[in-house]
Amino acid sequence: ADALKIGIAGLGTVGASLVRILQDRHEMLATTCGRAIETTAVTARDRNRDRGVDLSKTAWFDDAISLARDADIDVFVELMGGAGDPAYSAVKAALQRGIHVVTANKALLAAHGIELAKIAEEKGALLNYEAAVAGGIPVIKALRESMTGNTISRVYGIMNGTCNYILTKMEKEQLSFEACLKEAQRLGYAEADPAFDIEGNDTAHKLSILTSLAFGTAIAADDIYLEGITNISIDDIHAAADLGYRIKLLGVAQRTESGIEQRVHPTMVPYDSVIAQVDGVTNAVAIESDILGELLMVGPGAGGNATASAVLGDIADIAKSRPGAQHVPAFGRPTNALLPYKRAQIQ
Ligand code: NDP
Ligand code: HSE
Repeated sequence: ADALKIGIAGLGTVGASLVRILQDRHEMLATTCGRAIETTAVTARDRNRDRGVDLSKTAWFDDAISLARDADIDVFVELMGGAGDPAYSAVKAALQRGIHVVTANKALLAAHGIELAKIAEEKGALLNYEAAVAGGIPVIKALRESMTGNTISRVYGIMNGTCNYILTKMEKEQLSFEACLKEAQRLGYAEADPAFDIEGNDTAHKLSILTSLAFGTAIAADDIYLEGITNISIDDIHAAADLGYRIKLLGVAQRTESGIEQRVHPTMVPYDSVIAQVDGVTNAVAIESDILGELLMVGPGAGGNATASAVLGDIADIAKSRPGAQHVPAFGRPTNALLPYKRAQIQ
């Protein structure tokens, strides 16, 4: 079969890891997928920055929208970040050409996910985004595919590696909030603007995607009660420990009689619960459903390799798909079958 040609927009923590893995595992991936995966086009802001990967045989585009619109590619991989342009217009341009899209950009999906899914559907393209929620944990595939037919009552968990890393380090190493955040940034866990992490927006973006998948509704990212970790002090962490609890930033979405409730806030969880023991950059997502029961997935929630692993899985799914085959809808069901979002009435 012909090689799958991919164009990558964004060569930072995740993009550079992805290029490196695609180069190092070229033969292995060709065998596994039944066809080679070739990076034929790339873009980032700074053409001259050394990214530790060989891009000499790859076409360089000066901007992402031109790459998405004009490059000779089968898949557009968006790893720039941000809900607005160029990510939004570039993804839209690729889908409008019928080019498959893989993205790790939860901010973009929270804002425009359903609109983009509709274009993908109309054009027969795939919109894959496993890396957008909980890094390397395959939670999108679990909800979108493996758990089809289940009625889900609740989805919750630790969905931001940076916040969990900060809370863990503050407790275990007595380091200041600022020092822990700096370290999370150095390790490539944090968003370009870390306010999205520590103020809870990133968890809210992820939760809004899980809510849509779990309950079959349109995305409602603005309907989330939101509180981040910026007011948590070492004293709070110790006070919680004295009472037998640890503080975790949780995202929670649940079905109630009156509608759906979505919230993100620091939560005291009993010390001997599994979630309390999830440390550092690790994430945990629990899904409660009627057929399967309770599923708990724990694993790396951020970082170049862990995230690139999920992006690579999405690309491999496309490489293995048969031409003309019916695609899995981006949000688990056709966009015209998504239910209107109804918020729960809080007494
Ligand atoms: P980085 O900030 O490390 O990299 C972003 C890349 O995008 C850089 O190469 C940058 O170029 C490029 N870029 C930014 N703006 C533009 C623009 N206007 N035009 C062209 N290129 C641009 O981000 P990450 O790799 O950490 O994150 C990428 C995406 O993955 C984001 O959506 C993020 O939320 C998501 N994600 C990240 C995870 C992580 O652990 N880091 C985990 C899960 C998802 P240049 O290098 O020249 O500045
Ligand atoms: N900044 C995000 C986090 C990246 O720390 O979880 C993974 O989505």
